[in-house]
Amino acid sequence: MISATAGAMRLGGRRVAPRAASIVAAPVTRASVGQRTAMAQARYLSSTSRLSYALNTNPNPPLGKKNASNDAPSRIGLIGARGYTGQALIDLLNNHPNMDLQHVSSRELDGQELKGYTKRKVVYENLSPEDVARLDKDGKVDCWIMALPNGVCKPYVQALGQSSSVIVDISADYRFDNSWAYGLPEMLARPKIAQSTRISTPGCYSTGALLALNPILEHLGASPTIFGVSGYSGAGTKPSPRNDVALLHDNLLPYSLTGHMHEREINHHLGISSAFIPHCASWFRGIHLTLNVPLNKTMTSRDIRQIYQDRYAGEKLVKVVGEAPLVRAIQNKHGVEIGGFAVDKTGQRVVVCATIDNLNKGAATQCLQNMNLALGYGEYQGVPL
Ligand SMILES: NC(=O)c1ccc[n+]([C@@H]2O[C@H](COP(=O)([O-])OP(=O)(O)OC[C@H]3O[C@@H](n4cnc5c(N)ncnc54)[C@H](OP(=O)(O)O)[C@@H]3O)[C@@H](O)[C@H]2O)c1
Repeated sequence: MISATAGAMRLGGRRVAPRAASIVAAPVTRASVGQRTAMAQARYLSSTSRLSYALNTNPNPPLGKKNASNDAPSRIGLIGARGYTGQALIDLLNNHPNMDLQHVSSRELDGQELKGYTKRKVVYENLSPEDVARLDKDGKVDCWIMALPNGVCKPYVQALGQSSSVIVDISADYRFDNSWAYGLPEMLARPKIAQSTRISTPGCYSTGALLALNPILEHLGASPTIFGVSGYSGAGTKPSPRNDVALLHDNLLPYSLTGHMHEREINHHLGISSAFIPHCASWFRGIHLTLNVPLNKTMTSRDIRQIYQDRYAGEKLVKVVGEAPLVRAIQNKHGVEIGGFAVDKTGQRVVVCATIDNLNKGAATQCLQNMNLALGYGEYQGVPL
């Protein structure tokens, strides 16, 4: 397994020269992983020192446009392009100044022209792992996106082997693999993502829950409980009870009430033991999370809200609000809203609410942030803010 950073052939940006040229130039310009990390950290520190006082409260602020090191187009291959997350990403790539979508894969739509992408004519192909490996070897693609169901992407990743191309996986398959960067830019060191060629995009519920729990972690008194409700696009396009519109009409469907994969993901990445209880609702897109959080000391709602505001100062995709946010307001938007902060009369229990659009910040927008960081563009480039 290639490590998340070992295959990088760039200094901050990726393939600013055409592939053949970058291969020739590699021995001269290539820096060691240590050098690249030091350079990324230097860029990161110089960017943070330029930030305003308010941003100093955020230990992991956005790198900012000035850190972008690439203004050349990158060629993108999207596997699983017919699905909900693939389509949401296509919309974003269509409006990105530097992303050049060249290959889209679907078994069902093989041979049909891709709709909704206006930069060039692209036709769906049914690409096997061997096809992907061949295109990559021929230097046709800089970045592969896997938008496949869980458990399906491994043969594609294995076929790409030690390739220096960036791979961003939207499925859960590499979220527990420490040789991949876990691509949640607001929570983890952005320079690490920027230096990686193997990035797993966190799950939709997990993104909302991790961002809603991370600021209060040091004040956790016991295991939190996370009640989640998702629109039915969260279940993908393959028919199941969770996207059966007739079953969901006037209804709420509890499922995977213990041991949901996102429960493991949240606990793994925060080092806690939370309980996650998911439900599916009749709307199409958008997630609501209500988190019950026991505290290890007495706190006020105002203290807690301030902690969140400080932690996310300068973040363009995380909004801290006073009231509990509503799912209708986050649909088709690109960030996460966190609010509520209701403290009970003991002062030792807070209820926090978060909303997220599962197809945007829960999948495609976050994937684009990761692509931007790994390919050397500004993190928010192409994201409608
Ligand atoms: N939906 C969400 O809200 C959401 C949010 C975050 C993460 N995710 C994750 O993102 C991934 C994609 O989710 P989605 O909702 O976009 O799924 P989806 O709508 O069901 O789409 C799945 C895509 O994969 C292709 N596919 C299915 N089985 C395949 C196979 N065996 N080999 C090759 N291609 C195959 C399908 O196209 P063809 O059948 O035409 O080949 C389709 O393009 C999943 O791993 C999911 O867990 C989803």
